[in-house]
Order: sequence, then structure tokens, then C-alpha cells
Amino acid sequence: MSTAPPTTWLVTGTSRGIGLEIVRQLLASPNNLVIAGARTPEKATALRELKNTAQGTLHVIKLDVGDFASVRASATDLQAILGDTGLDYLINNAGLGPRDTAFTIDADVLLETFKTNSVGPALVSQVALPFLGKGRTKKILHISSTAGSLGSADAVGSMLAGYSMTKSALNMLAYKQKLERPDLTVITLCPGSAKTDMSGEYGKIEPSESVAGVLKVIISATAADSGKFLRYNGETIPW
Ligand SMILES: NC(=O)c1ccc[n+]([C@@H]2O[C@H](COP(=O)([O-])OP(=O)(O)OC[C@H]3O[C@@H](n4cnc5c(N)ncnc54)[C@H](OP(=O)(O)O)[C@@H]3O)[C@@H](O)[C@H]2O)c1
Repeated sequence: MSTAPPTTWLVTGTSRGIGLEIVRQLLASPNNLVIAGARTPEKATALRELKNTAQGTLHVIKLDVGDFASVRASATDLQAILGDTGLDYLINNAGLGPRDTAFTIDADVLLETFKTNSVGPALVSQVALPFLGKGRTKKILHISSTAGSLGSADAVGSMLAGYSMTKSALNMLAYKQKLERPDLTVITLCPGSAKTDMSGEYGKIEPSESVAGVLKVIISATAADSGKFLRYNGETIPW
């Protein structure tokens, strides 16, 4: 039996979609210890099914990234699960994707989306930082979107205006984190147009393909890659 310390992961938004698939693929390696955040764990049926077969390598915690008290409270869970073991990877995946255009934005919906897509990842990163500091790889992955790329805005078109704003802000957060903490590797990444509830009729690739690429990118990323905006297949996305 291997006595190697586990590779530890914290992933947000794991009840379904890309987050659930990230957890599923990580659990395929018994050396991974996965902490899966869900805003309503009791309703996350598929996640709880994974836990039943994970043989102790999956911990599900309540983590509503838009509820800042919930994010701060998760520090206690992280401490209880990790103890002196550091956190190797943080994946900020939870997201909301309202459909609007610049002149149809609902201000309240946009604020809620900012809380989840931009402010939540900033606070989760702050809460995770002491644990990442003790980790071996010290990597943060923000699941962003090509919609947040100014350089791709003409191709994306007028739709998803509010969502795009929140992902641009997330990208800036990633770059500021890289500047402040050169000891971390911070990547912001578009998972591609994966078939999930969020993409609906626009989904093109299976979540399994998206996530295989996402994990390959973050696992192989080095300090030299910190601050990059990448696609799930490793291509660079213009800011
Ligand atoms: N699918 C795509 O084509 C695509 C493309 C580009 C980027 N992305 C990004 O990929 C990420 C995952 O999206 P997806 O396609 O998997 O979407 P999804 O199927 O709609 O799943 C979204 C996940 O985020 C969770 N979530 C939402 N608000 C939350 C909150 N406040 N706290 C904690 N969890 C919360 C949801 O939990 P509940 O079940 O509790 O609602 C769900 O687990 C998002 O950041 C999204 O912007 C997706």
C-alpha cells in the first residue's frame, strides 16, 4: 500500500455539471483527496452517490460561494479535514450564467452573478490561502469563460453581457493573485462549450472531454504558466 501523502483538492460547485465531473475524474486516482463544496449538499444526489463509492477520499462540505458567511465558515471544515496537510489545488468552479444582453441586464441578477462568479472566488481563495501555503503544488484554477475575453467579444456577440462582465472580473482577479503571490500558480481557464445545464442547447462537447482537458492543463501547469488565460485544450485565450 502506498504511504505517499494524498494530493489534496478543493472544488466549488460540485453538485452537477463540470464540477461534478471534476470530482468524478479526480476520484479515479486513489491518491487524490477531494473536498467538494456544494451549496446544498443534501440535494446533491449524484455527488453523494460518488461519496458512497469513494472509500474515504471524498469529503462533501457546504460551501455557498455567494454567501460570504458560508465561505468563511468553510475554513473550519477545511481545518478539520486537512489538519496539517496542505491544500494542493483550489478549483473555483461554481458559477451562474444568466442570459441577457447589455440593455436587458437585470441589476439584481447581475449583482448576484458577480457575488458567485467573481467575489466568491476571491473570498474562497482568501480562505484557502493558509492551506495552499502548506500545500506542495500551490495551484489555483479559476473556471472562467471565453465570454470574459475582451479579445473574443466580437466572436461571442452581444449575448451573455452580464455573465461576460463577471468572468472578465474573475480574469483580473487571477492576474492580480499571480502578481501578489509569485509562489502560487494561478490559471484562469475556459472549459469549452460543455453540455451542462448552464450551456443548454449551446453545449458542444461532453463534460468528460472538457474536464479531462481542464485537469491536464492544471496538473501540468508550472510557475511559468501563472497568470495565463487558457482553453481546456491548452490554447491561450486573448484577454
Ligand atoms: N458549460 C459550459 O459550456 C461553460 C462554458 C464556459 C464556462 N463555464 C463555467 O464552468 C463552470 C461550471 O459551469 P457548468 O456548465 O457546470 O454549470 P451548471 O451545470 O449550471 O452547474 C453550476 C454549478 O455551480 C453551482 N453553483 C451555482 N451557484 C453557486 C453558489 N453560490 N455556491 C456554490 N455553488 C454554486 C451549482 O450548484 P447548484 O446545483 O446548487 O445550483 C452547480 O453545481 C461555471 O463557472 C461556468 O461559468 C461553463
